[in-house]
Amino acid sequence: MTKQYKTLGEFIIENQDSFKYSSGELSRLLNGLRLAAKVVNHEVNKAGLVDILGEAGDTNIQGENQQKLDVLANEKFIQTLKKREIVCGIASEEEDDFISINSFDNNNQNKYVVLIDPLDGSSNIDVNVSVGTIFSIYRRVTPVGSPVTIDDFLQPGTKQIAAGYIVYGTSTMLVYTTGDGVNGFTLNPALGTFYLSHPNMKFPETGNIYSVNEGNYVHFPQGVKDYIKYCQKEEDDRPYTSRYIGSLVSDFHRNMIKGGIYMYPTSSKAPDGKLRLLYECNPMAFIAEQADGLASDGKQRIMEINPKELHQRVPFFCGSKKMVEKAKEFMK
Ligand code: AHG
Ligand code: MN
Ligand code: MN
Repeated sequence: MTKQYKTLGEFIIENQDSFKYSSGELSRLLNGLRLAAKVVNHEVNKAGLVDILGEAGDTNIQGENQQKLDVLANEKFIQTLKKREIVCGIASEEEDDFISINSFDNNNQNKYVVLIDPLDGSSNIDVNVSVGTIFSIYRRVTPVGSPVTIDDFLQPGTKQIAAGYIVYGTSTMLVYTTGDGVNGFTLNPALGTFYLSHPNMKFPETGNIYSVNEGNYVHFPQGVKDYIKYCQKEEDDRPYTSRYIGSLVSDFHRNMIKGGIYMYPTSSKAPDGKLRLLYECNPMAFIAEQADGLASDGKQRIMEINPKELHQRVPFFCGSKKMVEKAKEFMK
């Protein structure tokens, strides 16, 4: 007998009552993201077939404007979220400033802000390697009905009400949390339906994978260098194996399933690290903690950092609890 998997749509409805704010609203928002994910998935999958690759601003053979996939993904997510009468503001890696959304149909009663990295791992697009999307959702802090301000976006990660990612991999998955564990859904492309394939995902407490761009090794702080040497040492359950895709979403996803640590440290080249706090690190940190993992900037819990700017960068150490704790010891 074949197993019956629950669909994402069913799961959202079944779980909406456990959500402490207005449950119907969050369901609508998640449904919007689900739809945008399918649209972007379609675009990612055909990327090799049509003239979708290349720099934004180029024209293709028909003289149409070509768009880079990250610009296109940005547009698709923003379009879909704008329509739902639920989101009052969006911040995106692809937009210098946040976008304020006026919803005349409901007198600007929208309460949520969404922060997105529409296409993560963009250097992998042209070479057919997994990419992703990351999203983070907050309730606004300024009064409902007034225009959103930067304060609505500069909230610490602990205030997130939901976060998730989509990985466009060998299969496409949507993984998210509303603060009640982490669940993963796999897209059946023939039906366009996400099915609950990975309920209650957890990071193994420890693992044997470390993920870091070792090309930057000489530029890393001494503590990070020492930790990498520790990972490579022949002792106990080591040496660990090294795996680095260069798409945070994909590296994180693999590590959550198999057990591992992801690191993007500061370096003399990137003194604040590379990854962005608000739409890369915070959502991944929320998912990691909900899956029994940890996320730190080396000293502090990622989600407790008080953001100062929309595109702020932070060093990022995330993954299996024991591995992140060990890495932190080296960085003291
Ligand atoms: P993005 O494509 O959204 O700019 O993010 C890329 C990020 C992240 O996904 C990845 O882990 C990291 O940059 C890779 O950076 P390096 O190429 O410097 O290793
Ligand atoms: Mn990214
Ligand atoms: Mn991106």
